[in-house]
Amino acid sequence: MAETETSTSKEEDHTSKDENKFNDSNDVVTPWNVTSISSEGVDYNKLIDHFGSEKIKPELLERVEKLTGKPPHRFLRRGIFFSHRDMNSILNDFENKKPFFLYTGRGPSSEAMHLGHLIPFIFTKYLQDAFDVPLVIQLTDDEKFLWKDLTVEKANEFAYENAKDIIALGFDVNKTFIFSDIDYIGSSTAFYQNMIKIQKCVTFNQVKGIFGFNDSDSIGKISFPAIQAAPSFSNSFPDIFGSRSDIHCLIPCAIDQDPYFRMTRDVAPRLGYPKPALLHSQFFPALQGAQTKMSASDPNSSIFLTDEAEDIETKINKYAYSGGGITVEEHRKKGGNCDVDIPFQYLKFFFEDDQKLDEIKESYNSGKLLTGELKKILIDILKPMVRSHRERRAAITEKEVKQFMTPRKLAFDY
Ligand code: TRP
Repeated sequence: MAETETSTSKEEDHTSKDENKFNDSNDVVTPWNVTSISSEGVDYNKLIDHFGSEKIKPELLERVEKLTGKPPHRFLRRGIFFSHRDMNSILNDFENKKPFFLYTGRGPSSEAMHLGHLIPFIFTKYLQDAFDVPLVIQLTDDEKFLWKDLTVEKANEFAYENAKDIIALGFDVNKTFIFSDIDYIGSSTAFYQNMIKIQKCVTFNQVKGIFGFNDSDSIGKISFPAIQAAPSFSNSFPDIFGSRSDIHCLIPCAIDQDPYFRMTRDVAPRLGYPKPALLHSQFFPALQGAQTKMSASDPNSSIFLTDEAEDIETKINKYAYSGGGITVEEHRKKGGNCDVDIPFQYLKFFFEDDQKLDEIKESYNSGKLLTGELKKILIDILKPMVRSHRERRAAITEKEVKQFMTPRKLAFDY
C-alpha cells in the first residue's frame, strides 16, 4: 500500500527520456506554452502516462478526508488537482506525526494577476489549514527578468505587488514565508549552497532534454532550474528548519511545472535529500476556450483581480466560449455541452455546492437552462468574489508584506 520515500522505479532517470517533452499532435505542455487542438482542452490522462505521475484516485481522497477530518477541497473532489507524485508518503508522514512542509511559487510577470493565478494558491491555503503545516512561497522575479523584456527593478516590484494578492487569500503569517528570489537568495548561504549542489548534478545535456534549451539561450535560463528546485529541500531555509534536511516537501502546482520537479526528484537522492512530493492541477482555461490557459498577456482571455463588476460581466457575456446551442430553439432541442462550455468550466472551479452544480449541469445539458442564464450564475459568483479579494488586498499594509517576507522562525515544532 504505502509508497516509500524514494518512490517507484518507473520514475528513475527522467532526465534522458523523451517524456520530458509532451508535444504530441494534439497537445503541447511545457512551462512556457500550453495549447491543445481540442475544445475540451489538454488530454490529462495522456499527460499522466507521458510524465509518469500517478492519477489521484478516490482512495487517496478518502485517505485525505480521514486524516484531515474534513471533506477534501472541491478542486480534489472535481479532479482539478488530478495527478500526484508520492502523496501517499506525505500522508504516511502526517499519520505518523512526522512534519512536512508546503512549497509553491509564482513568476511575477505583471502587476495584475488573474483568476487562473489564484488556483494553486487557493489550494495551497486549503492544504495549510487542513494539515497545519509551514509554507514557503517562491516569487521568481529572477526568472521573469531572464525570460521577459523586464528590468530587474520592475520584476522585483511585481514580486511585491503579487505578494499582496497572495497574502489577501488569508495565509497564516505565523506559518508562511514568502520570498523574492532577487532579494532572498543573495542573503542566504544555505539556499545558495543547495543551488550549486543541484547545479553540479545536472548537465547542460539534461536541461536541454528536459526544458528544450538550445545554444542561443542565455546561461541565466540554463541555470535557473536549480533555483526553482532549491526550495524543495528544507535546509534551504535555516530560519525555519534549522539545519534539518530531512523534512519532506509537498508541492502543489499546475502540471506544466512538473519538469522542474522531475529534475529535482532525480537530483534529491544524490544529495541525500528526500524527493519532493507533488500535487498537479489542470489549467484554468482562457475565456475563449480550453485550447489555451488564461494568459495575462491577452487581457481579453482573462478576468483580472483588478476588473470591475462591469468588466467581469462584459467579458463573460462577450468572450466566454459557450457550449450552448446557436439559437434558443436549437439549445432547447439539443441541449448544451458542459465539457466545452467555459462558464460551466469556471463554475467547476468556484461553485462550492456539489449537488447544485450537478443540477446546473443536468439542466444545461438537457437544454432547460439557457446560456445567458448559466453565464448569469457565474457572473453572480465572480463579482462579489473579485470585489472582496480587492478589498482584502487594499487593506494589506507594507508592514504585513514585510512580515511575510522576512526570513524568520515559523510556528512549527520538530
Ligand atoms: N516558474 C513558476 C512560474 O512561472 C513559479 C514557481 C517557482 C513555482 N517555484 C514554484 C510554481 C513552485 C509552482 C511551484 O509561475
